[in-house]
Amino acid sequence: MDTGMKNILTAPFIKEMCKTASNMYRLGWDERNGGNISLMLDEGEAAEYLDPEGKLRTIPLGFDASALAGKIFLVTGTGKYFKNVEADPETNLGIVRISPDGKEAQLLWGYKDGGKFTSEFPAHLMSHMARLSVDPKNRVVIHSHPTHTLAMNYVHELDEKKLTHTLWEMCTECIVVFPDGVGVLPWMLCGTNSIGEATAEKMKQFRLVIWAMHGIYGAGRTMDETFGLIETVEKAAQIYMLTSHLPRINTIRDGQLKELAEFFGVDYRKDFLEST
Ligand code: 13P
Ligand code: ZN
Repeated sequence: MDTGMKNILTAPFIKEMCKTASNMYRLGWDERNGGNISLMLDEGEAAEYLDPEGKLRTIPLGFDASALAGKIFLVTGTGKYFKNVEADPETNLGIVRISPDGKEAQLLWGYKDGGKFTSEFPAHLMSHMARLSVDPKNRVVIHSHPTHTLAMNYVHELDEKKLTHTLWEMCTECIVVFPDGVGVLPWMLCGTNSIGEATAEKMKQFRLVIWAMHGIYGAGRTMDETFGLIETVEKAAQIYMLTSHLPRINTIRDGQLKELAEFFGVDYRKDFLEST
């Protein structure tokens, strides 16, 4: 029977998700099942591949997501390995729609082995809500365990101003890529609503949030933008880890950071410069 529906495995959003998970795996950021990705789909685009009435099962959310009622998300599965996503998207990924009362996720596709969305779905959905409140075009949330960012957590003060300032100093383009800086949460138990609420609170002012001694969250309008934010922090953290034990001979000065931000016209956290 021809349903007129396109093959979902050819959908650009599935391909992009697969490619991103593979890239993150190969960069060493997402060992085993580490990390998770959620992408809010355009409803019109999703309808080309999915029957909106074709609900496979419902999965309780455990928190109130009514602000996202009816929204459709492509999300990595809990316990699923990033290295396997590309070879078997239908087992390792799922597409869910938030129920009208915001209490459940309606599974439209995926989690073929009976699985469910990432244990960090509270942090993802709450971050989506927070980002959408300040940027209606936000669509992506990525959580990852990038190696040098994590290493830096053990040897650098976990203070938002100090950490952001150090990262800005590590590569000339950092202040242009993340002028809003990096938010920091203390170590907290992961997979809970509490860490989700704390992450979302930070996401009102930052597109990047460090989970101390665990990893990082990034949010953005596209997969490229969000991946690029985390990639830029990770690069800066790598430079830090390569140089912090050596005598510092040269550095990018505050006046130069200011010059960069002004030249590229970005609204940066002026209070994160050293002198303030
Ligand atoms: P999931 O396998 O549930 O996505 O968890 C991975 C992770 O990174 C927890 O923080
Ligand atoms: Zn994690």
